[in-house]
Amino acid sequence: MFGVATALICLSCQNTGRNRTTDATTSADSSANTFDGEIDGHTIKLYTLTNKTGAKATFTNFGARIVSLSVPDKAGKLTDVVLGFNKASDYNNPEEPYYGTIVGPFGNRIANGKFTLDGETYTLPTNNGPNTLHGGYKGVHFAAWEAQTNGDNTITFSYTLPDKHEGFPGNIAMTVTYTLTDDNALEIAYKATTDKKTVVNLTNHAYFNLNGEGSGTILDHRLQIFADRFTPVDSTLIPTGELTPVKGTPFDFTTAKAIGRDIEVEDTQLAYGEGYDHNFVLSGNKVDGLTHAATLVGDKSGIKMDIYTEEPGLQFYSGNFMSEKVTLKNGKKDSFRTGLCLETQHFPDSPNQAAFPSTVLAPGETYQTKSVYKFTVE
Ligand code: BGC
Repeated sequence: MFGVATALICLSCQNTGRNRTTDATTSADSSANTFDGEIDGHTIKLYTLTNKTGAKATFTNFGARIVSLSVPDKAGKLTDVVLGFNKASDYNNPEEPYYGTIVGPFGNRIANGKFTLDGETYTLPTNNGPNTLHGGYKGVHFAAWEAQTNGDNTITFSYTLPDKHEGFPGNIAMTVTYTLTDDNALEIAYKATTDKKTVVNLTNHAYFNLNGEGSGTILDHRLQIFADRFTPVDSTLIPTGELTPVKGTPFDFTTAKAIGRDIEVEDTQLAYGEGYDHNFVLSGNKVDGLTHAATLVGDKSGIKMDIYTEEPGLQFYSGNFMSEKVTLKNGKKDSFRTGLCLETQHFPDSPNQAAFPSTVLAPGETYQTKSVYKFTVE
């Protein structure tokens, strides 16, 4: 279905920016006019999805990003729970490139920027200490994806990474479909195919603050992660290969607790991450075929987010490197731990860790995975 023909069509679409692209933004949405822009010759736009209950989400084709996600709080007030920027051009910043974005072709780290497939070693840019993070300097977060809407509540972004881009083998054709359901869930469905054996690990890198973006620390949010084990890391945040029980460690989120409760405990793993920046090995119940990964509650808003996924892992990153480098949507700085990421994914460095679930994608196969972020109140 995807193959080279589609790849060529998509590449030509990126050049014109508009072919086959439906602008989902209504004329009443004045934020669109101030958001849109041009990046590296590509038209970058804002797209809006709404559902029957009034929840609203906006996206941009630059990185196939979530720009905002407004859901009701316990008083019924629509609250934007995703951090981001007001203008397309603000997302084009190598200092802070991951707000709301899809990361790929390989989200998270690959040790020493190297992996081997069928005896051939591939070398990637090392953009995070000695390692490769989130697909290298020019991962898909800096791509102008093609956008196609389908009704009010679904949008599909497509992009084909050319062979050897940032060192990854294969023309990798990807689609990401976001659906805002009438029961206030944001579903993210990922697909990829390749024409050469490669590695794929796509995820979304939204920073959440369930009290509302720009409303201060996330340390009082209550988090439950349905994982009995996590993957401890070395000082460069590469998994050691062990799957360590969380019991009796600050990584035990099997019962809901405030994120800040143990974050300052003296612990080598917390020291390496400068807080939580670790992958959890999911062991939650299955709900409609997906694993219940986590539940997060905003202490002030009462907004509750349940995450369900087909992925084996969840990276919990507690915003440890947020350091007031940029100004976010509501004029607030990206202050320390004012947002957090819960990234559904395969384990970091899987291409170099034979015992981890495989991230190899071969020609003729389709990478297909779905994650759901469901919002209610309590
Ligand atoms: C990583 C962090 C990194 C952050 C960048 C997360 O997925 O785990 O180490 O700093 O992305 O936004």
